[in-house]
Amino acid sequence: QKNKKLIAGNWKMNGLQASLKEIELIAAKVGHYADKGTFLICPPATLLPGAKALAGDDLNIGAQDCHSEKNGAYTGDISAEMIAEIGGSFVIVGHSERREGHHESNEAVKAKAEAALGQGLKPIVCCGETLQQREKGEAIGFVTQQIADSTPDSLSKDGEIAIAYEPIWAIGTGKTASVDDVAEMHVALRKTLVDKYGERGNTVEILYGGSVKPENANALLHTQDVDGALVGGASLKADSFLGIVAAL
Ligand code: G3H
Repeated sequence: QKNKKLIAGNWKMNGLQASLKEIELIAAKVGHYADKGTFLICPPATLLPGAKALAGDDLNIGAQDCHSEKNGAYTGDISAEMIAEIGGSFVIVGHSERREGHHESNEAVKAKAEAALGQGLKPIVCCGETLQQREKGEAIGFVTQQIADSTPDSLSKDGEIAIAYEPIWAIGTGKTASVDDVAEMHVALRKTLVDKYGERGNTVEILYGGSVKPENANALLHTQDVDGALVGGASLKADSFLGIVAAL
């Protein structure tokens, strides 16, 4: 287990300027937990500069996606350099909502993760199985292959990337995977990372995501090889995000 957990909020396509007050509230409190965790909010792109201006030293700001190219004719996309320029330090890549809704392949996700590293951002590479795959007993094989194929070929320093395991059937549904299932998957993912990166694979944080909330955070965050959480719905309000942080 890592000394510090990474608690990341993904606002998805939620949040107008008025929501920046939640960032301010979160930023004011997370410093109390600085010895136990690293904290991150990924708002929509329109709120990135405003969020960064309010985040202070204890809250990191990141984006929800980036393009794999440095710049160019890619209408609607943002680059890793744009995220870095406003002071962003993380970017989520390969979220299942991007893989499904925008047909992102493992190869495309890997290229995005590499683009992020090229700009000094820490990518959080996501993976996760469908309910059908879980019921057929294919979850571990599918998810470990997804991570083997979606992560950069090599890492130049410890903890340069994080990954997030999010069973698709647990996202936004109120259903969480059982602690045993999470532990089994995280141990398998750790092995995949060590097979790929050697000892350095042990320095990659493995987050769990899927209906994490204050009530279940303690059990999940203290499960074997769970190094943090990627939180959707419960990250939109300071109270619930801070409730998860308090479970550290
Ligand atoms: O990125 C976050 C995940 O998709 C989890 O979302 O906490 O709303 O289930 P959720």
